[in-house]
Amino acid sequence: MSQNVVAEIKSRIGLFPNFPKSGVEFKDIFPLFQSPSLFHKVVELFEENIKENHQEVKIDAVLGLDARGFLFGPLLASKLNTSFVPVRKKGKLPGHVVSTSYALEYGEDSIEMQTGSLKEGDNVVIVDDLLATGGTMAAACKLVKQLKLNVVKCLVVIELTGLKGREKLDGTSVYSVIQYE
Ligand code: PRP
Ligand code: MG
Repeated sequence: MSQNVVAEIKSRIGLFPNFPKSGVEFKDIFPLFQSPSLFHKVVELFEENIKENHQEVKIDAVLGLDARGFLFGPLLASKLNTSFVPVRKKGKLPGHVVSTSYALEYGEDSIEMQTGSLKEGDNVVIVDDLLATGGTMAAACKLVKQLKLNVVKCLVVIELTGLKGREKLDGTSVYSVIQYE
């Protein structure tokens, strides 16, 4: 897909200086959803990346990260004809879950995933809207490793490259549609 499409997607990201706190520029993905075709193109870029780089692998599930990974994950799973599994912040999922904690700027948080739908050795891709420090994605990778699943790819719409989040992912392959320094 052409660079023009990527530029068009980028032009749809809202930029909000000093939100949620002073010195931070918030990247708002929701304007993208005002253009159904551009939203679909983002998911098509994810799909193309998987098909071009991992054609030999059968993807057993798309894992979406709470909350904005849920916007892209189910459509991608549908396109790949595979299942969607949510990874949620703690206390939201019923039944038997595995959990892992990760550091925040102040304190820590946990994410959880229901067990049962996937088995050891299954291949998954993980989807979120944004890779910043990489803490959230690294926690998801850790969770997946606890279940002995194989992460084929981490997919994000936006990567803040200056924060070097991908370096937290132990060499797991990352694809981002658009980047900001
Ligand atoms: C944001 C974003 C990513 C994460 C990226 O989620 O949606 O999930 O931060 O940051 P990191 O790479 O530094 O971990 P947030 O935790 O704000 O919550 P939300 O998705 O529920 O809005
Ligand atoms: Mg999030």
